[in-house]
Amino acid sequence: MNTSPSDLCARKLCIDLKQGFPRHWHRGDAFRSMYFNALSMSFPVGEQAFIDAVRAGLELLPDNPEHNSLRVTVQQFIAQEATHRHIHGLYNVHLEKQGLDNRWQHWATKRVDAARANNMHPLTMIALTAAYEHCTAVFADCTLRYDNWLDHAEPKMQMLWRWHAAEETEHKAVAFDLYQTLGGGYTRRALCFAYAFLLFVVESNAQTLLNLWHDRSLFKLRTWWSMSTLALGKNGMFWRCTLPLLRYFKPGFHPNDDDNRELAEQWLTKNAYIWEAVRRPATQDNRGAINAMVRAVAP
Ligand SMILES: [Fe+2]
Ligand SMILES: [Fe+2]
Repeated sequence: MNTSPSDLCARKLCIDLKQGFPRHWHRGDAFRSMYFNALSMSFPVGEQAFIDAVRAGLELLPDNPEHNSLRVTVQQFIAQEATHRHIHGLYNVHLEKQGLDNRWQHWATKRVDAARANNMHPLTMIALTAAYEHCTAVFADCTLRYDNWLDHAEPKMQMLWRWHAAEETEHKAVAFDLYQTLGGGYTRRALCFAYAFLLFVVESNAQTLLNLWHDRSLFKLRTWWSMSTLALGKNGMFWRCTLPLLRYFKPGFHPNDDDNRELAEQWLTKNAYIWEAVRRPATQDNRGAINAMVRAVAP
């Protein structure tokens, strides 16, 4: 089942990040706060790379009416990711003020620059995007589905993470559909997923450890207890994420095999007071307006 353009809408999140948030915003828990912070640190560079990859993919898409629907869906994907990278940029400014050091952005920038310098094939860039989108979608599902992933966290941080999770859920198939439409095959997508997933595990853990070091909470017993319960406790990552992540290796897999868009819809409906639609679902006619909005939130 492919994503149709009517499914996607770019939204502005109406929360004030200028006032910042507490250092241990996740129910006073250093590990959980620093883990989520690490993920946020990766988004501005990562999501810009996804935008660039699918934009390059659009250039390769034959200009025929059969692809109009995918074309506008990709535009709306770009609009959603552009708003995410913008708000996580504001989030990360505050982390810097708290004394954290975002190394992940430099690791990611170096990789993206190297890929460009070596003229990496656009399909590989899209396959990597689809792979990261799958990791994000699995985490997003858990964030929306299991209350204890964010329970008792600072309310505006719960809103931010669940808004992002809802939109990731909505657009989880877009890069994958573009990859397949451009003729991308199984081997490339499986290899790219293995590479992206390993990199994600290593870099997310390295950045979290670094954050804990700067937070002076690395050597506290409760930090390590929190890490074990996040992985192995009730609805822990190990139990809830391992199989869904590995399903990506199944030949014939499609992100919407597990159609959880209702979960996103429910959250967005229940919390409609916290967001504004920036642009309603894309059409061929409003593509120019969407591009203008994307440029407005670009760095
Ligand atoms: Fe995103
Ligand atoms: Fe995404």
